[in-house]
Formats: sequence, structure tokens, C-alpha cells
Amino acid sequence: MRRPFIAGNWKMNLDRAAAVALAQRLAKEAESVEGVDLAVCPPSVYLDAVARAVAGSNVAVGAQNMYHEPKGAYTGEIGAAMLADVGCRYVILGHSERRHILGESDTDINKKVLAALEAALTPIICVGELIEQRRAGATMDVIASQFAGSLAGLSTEQIAQVVIAYEPVWAIGTGEVATPDQAEKVHLGLRKIMQVRYNEQVAQAIRIQYGGSVEPENAADLLGQPNIDGALVGGASLKAESFMGIIAALAK
Ligand code: PGA
Repeated sequence: MRRPFIAGNWKMNLDRAAAVALAQRLAKEAESVEGVDLAVCPPSVYLDAVARAVAGSNVAVGAQNMYHEPKGAYTGEIGAAMLADVGCRYVILGHSERRHILGESDTDINKKVLAALEAALTPIICVGELIEQRRAGATMDVIASQFAGSLAGLSTEQIAQVVIAYEPVWAIGTGEVATPDQAEKVHLGLRKIMQVRYNEQVAQAIRIQYGGSVEPENAADLLGQPNIDGALVGGASLKAESFMGIIAALAK
């Protein structure tokens, strides 16, 4: 059985005080939550403070990005070991905003994935199609190509350590959520890709989150799909009520 995993992607939101307050409240409210992995991914300048705020709780911390080199003359960048050093367990890689606004390629993402694994961070690797690609019937081709590119060269041992997030770009921050059926189809497709490239055991073990306008109101239907193992939540993770509401939907 795959253990569900709900992560909040705070993106470039909140200030230090609000981030710490939200983290403290989630840590407290998650005390009674069982059978699910939880994480929050604050802006990197608040990682240290948020990691302290959730220390010893059920809530882990993830970063939203990193650089693939371990250290050196890379002004403005942050390495995987630094993230681990301030208490990160996860790192989101290849988010559509980084692919489409910051111009990251599958090759860039692949280097980061390998570096994250090297530092014992769990990468949450995002894939997802644009609306034009969905309309053109190219969804699974796009996902297969992003999967092949972003996860190139991962051994069976390494793939076992990653989390995949399927995030249709047209559903991110738009309020237009994929239907449970649409999402389930892609998740199943991703398992087929993993089965062909690795084996059935890998395909069944890897957790695949859905992301894109997940709210407490639509979470139960999405999370109830057999191949959806959790959610990567943007907007609704910025408030304790809605993030906890999504976690509560797992029990439905
Ligand atoms: P959203 O963002 O929940 O605000 O749509 C999801 C994400 O980008 O991870």
C-alpha cells in the first residue's frame, strides 16, 4: 500500500511571521493525523525558521527548488546539502512555473534530481501538460517525454526514492481542477511508463501526487482514485483550515 503524501507549495508567498505562524499551527493540528506523510515547502529564506517551527511534529519541510552543483561560485543558488542542513527532507523539482516562467529544461531538472538524491533529499518531480497539448491529444506524449528527460539515468534504487506530482499546467492556480477521471488516467499512464522502464514493483510503489486547484471541496474525489496518492497543494496550502481540510478529505 502506498502511504498518502500531502504537501503544501507556498510558492513566493507569506512573510516570515506568517510562515512561522502557519507552520506552528499545522504542526499542532497535525498531531492527531495518522497514516499520511505531510510537508510544507516555504520560500527558501524561511526554510530554517519553518523547519524549527515544525521540528518533532508530523510535518516535514521541503524546498521549492535547488541548484545541481553541491557548492562553489554559483551566485544566488542553493545546493542540496544546504537544504538538508536546514532541515529539508523534500525538494520540489521541475514545477511548471520553473519550467515555463524560469525556463528550466528536462536536462536541468534531471541534474537537480540526481543531485537531490545524492544528498538524500526526496525529490517531488512535477510533470504536466499545457492546455494546447491536452486539446491536441498529446497529454501522455508530453508526460512520457518529461518523465524520460527529468528522470534520465535513475537506477531502480534511485527511482524508488522519488515522488512524482502530476500537475496539469491549465489547472494550476486557475480554479479549474482536472476531473478525477482525467487525473486518474494520467496517473495510470505514469505507472505504465514506470512498469515498462523499470518493473511492476516500481510502478506500484512510487507515489504520484495530483496538483492543480486542489481544495477541501474537490479533494475527496481526487484522492479517492486508486492511482492518486496525495496532493501537491498551492493556494489552499496557505491557510491552515483549507490545508487541514484537504488532509481530512483523505479519510472520506
Ligand atoms: P494550486 O497550485 O493548488 O494553487 O493550483 C498547485 C501547485 O502549483 O503546486
